[in-house]
Amino acid sequence: MLGLETSCDETGVGIVRGETLLVDAIASSVDEHARFGGVVPEVASRAHLEAMVPTIERATREAGVKLSDLDAIAVTSGPGLAGALMVGVAAAKSLAVALGVPLYGVNHLASHVAVDIVEHGPLPEPTLAMLVSGGHSSLLLVPDVTDDIQSLGSTIDDAAGEAFDKVARVLGLPFPGGPHIDRMAREGDRVAIDFPRGLTTGRDMERYRFDFSFSGLKTAVARWVQAREAAGEPVPVADVAASFQEAVTDVLTRKAVLACKEHGVMNLQIGGGVAANSRLRAMAQERCDAAGITLRVPRPGLCTDNGAMVASLGAQMVLKGRAPSELDLPADSSMPVTLVQA
Ligand code: KG4
Ligand code: ZN
Repeated sequence: MLGLETSCDETGVGIVRGETLLVDAIASSVDEHARFGGVVPEVASRAHLEAMVPTIERATREAGVKLSDLDAIAVTSGPGLAGALMVGVAAAKSLAVALGVPLYGVNHLASHVAVDIVEHGPLPEPTLAMLVSGGHSSLLLVPDVTDDIQSLGSTIDDAAGEAFDKVARVLGLPFPGGPHIDRMAREGDRVAIDFPRGLTTGRDMERYRFDFSFSGLKTAVARWVQAREAAGEPVPVADVAASFQEAVTDVLTRKAVLACKEHGVMNLQIGGGVAANSRLRAMAQERCDAAGITLRVPRPGLCTDNGAMVASLGAQMVLKGRAPSELDLPADSSMPVTLVQA
């Protein structure tokens, strides 16, 4: 199964055989977006177009697989940037038609969950999944990753990764900010500043039990930094990064563990770019251990966007006997998380 991922700024081409990863080739346009402080959709689309064929060639070469060896193609149908998705969907359709093999159009978010299968084996059913990326922060109940994903809650404003990127900007760190905050935070004091934990108390905990809000936290960090600057005092970047990161990971892991307990699902899987965060991984492990929950997090390279995740979900579709998608499958920029296949 060859999987293509083009929903954002990564051109990902992965090949899996069943539950074994053969190759995960990536071409990223992140450097082209860095000076704009965010992903520019048109730039991303053009970069996918340029990278697509060379990345497919690199993947097949490294895996020692000929195109004619492929049994099926999977592609991210959505959600994501419309123009970027279109490049991947068009490439996948062309390959499927040319090779005469079935095509599976799949959900990007379900793929972030399915990628862990090539790392840690079959997913327990049900699994509780927390997806934290630049565009999404969701808690999902996953009875079957190929067919049944239920949303328990999601962010009501900024995504977790978006908060990392915006706070990094306030601190003068490059885009994308997550990895830089992660690195800076190692030198900082995580209890130096008590930043707010959104939607974790009182009425909010009833109304928004499994939802997240990071916009207030981002504003609190910006105000704190501005006050320091206005007073002519130096900004302790490492302490701010560590304290901000602590607030985000505290809320995420607290709600994820609560969702596991309340739904009686003692398996938690974390995916998406923010799952690469070292503090989130450590805190999730501590809290899951204390609660008797089995935690699965893929290695950092498989948490951020890649083609292996799409190939992994596609392979599961075949293993579970799901019918392929139609050849006119859409690039659906707002594909709901509950729709696994297009
Ligand atoms: O899943 P992903 O590659 O793309 C989306 O689907 O959004 O996630 C990218 C996001 C960015 O916001 C980036 O800052 C964040 O993941 N990220 C991290 C780390 N590595 C990537 N955030 C915190 N800590 C990290 N180590
Ligand atoms: Zn993603």
